[in-house]
Amino acid sequence: MRYIVTWSLTLLALSSGFARAAAQEHVPLGLDLYVAIPDDNPLTAAGIALGRELFFDVRLSADRQISCSSCHLPAQYHADGRQVSLGVYGRVGTRNVPSILNSAWRESFFWDGRQTKLEEQVLQPIVNPVEMGLTLEAAVTRVAAVERYEQSFAASFADGVTHENLGRVLASFVRTLRAGGAAFDRFSAGDSAAISPAAHRGYRLFVGKALCMRCHSGALFTDEEFHNSGVSLGRDAGREFVTGLQTDRGKFRTPSLRNVEFTAPYMHDGSLATLPEVVRFYDGGGIVNPNLDRLIRPLGLSDDEQRDLVAFLETLTSGVGSR
Ligand code: HEC
Ligand code: HEC
Repeated sequence: MRYIVTWSLTLLALSSGFARAAAQEHVPLGLDLYVAIPDDNPLTAAGIALGRELFFDVRLSADRQISCSSCHLPAQYHADGRQVSLGVYGRVGTRNVPSILNSAWRESFFWDGRQTKLEEQVLQPIVNPVEMGLTLEAAVTRVAAVERYEQSFAASFADGVTHENLGRVLASFVRTLRAGGAAFDRFSAGDSAAISPAAHRGYRLFVGKALCMRCHSGALFTDEEFHNSGVSLGRDAGREFVTGLQTDRGKFRTPSLRNVEFTAPYMHDGSLATLPEVVRFYDGGGIVNPNLDRLIRPLGLSDDEQRDLVAFLETLTSGVGSR
């Protein structure tokens, strides 16, 4: 069972700079009003504060060099700017780090959607050998050894520091990482001057001829579905890992496009460096393969149209204070 909180309630509960800025300026957020919170992990100020501290703590990695924030950098919209991730002992991962902003609304996590509960998802980087490389037991022991943590967990949970509670506070903090209030949201709310004429033309293409909105829909510009966009062949099975179905080979979860201007490089493998490259990629129709989505096909966009689409994508960037 899940219950739901409204923005106004979370605005009271949280005191992030973003929440304050948005409330003061009456910026249209463009995000859903409701956030689903699991019954067994209510958002509390103490839990969020604890989760925030642990998010920045290198104790959660085997070599004590890597924290969650090493890969999800607040200054880079919670992505890292690398093609693929860099973890403990300099180990290189296989996938591009997604921005974790607005995770509170996502229905599944990871490029292949293999997790649907944020409380469980946030523990996986800790045990992943190319990310933080610890066991959960070791993580719990390290956290419990810090008196400040030990006391805070004891104050919030009857059973103190456990890996379940570690998952709870990390998930609570991640749920507070939200970013809306982009130029496009002001445009949607009726301020037609909030985006340039080029961006407006790009928006028409996005919803029309370029077919983008067929997958990048809704408040976060994702349908939460899995598609094969013909990005790379064979190297990463994608959704097939989860379902075992060959028809799911090379399918990945549609990413959100909010703040995409600053989350380069792009795609699950970080293979496209810039937004103009992404748009050129779509215009070309992707790499042909048996699972290629029928919406991925040559689009016949002119150079001007491609530039307009990029101008539109740049209107999805949230303002200062929202990272
Ligand atoms: C070494 C880099 C690295 C570290 C450290 C790391 N992550 Fe990640 N994170 C990634 C990568 C790469 C993915 C995507 C992996 C995949 O799709 O298989 C990801 C995915 C996620 C997602 C899912 C996002 C989505 O939309 O699918 C969340 C949430 C997340 N990480 C939170 C955390 C938390 C919390 C921590 C610390 C406990 C953490 N990460 C530590 C690299 C990292
Ligand atoms: C069939 C569904 C579908 C359509 C149509 C589609 N996309 Fe995507 N988009 C995806 C999927 C799935 C990914 C991730 C693919 C991957 O990593 O292999 C993606 C990735 C992206 C990314 C990279 C985001 C990131 O964080 O890495 C951008 C930017 C993007 N799409 C923009 C567009 C634009 C612009 C259009 C229209 C020209 C479009 N998309 C059409 C499904 C779609």
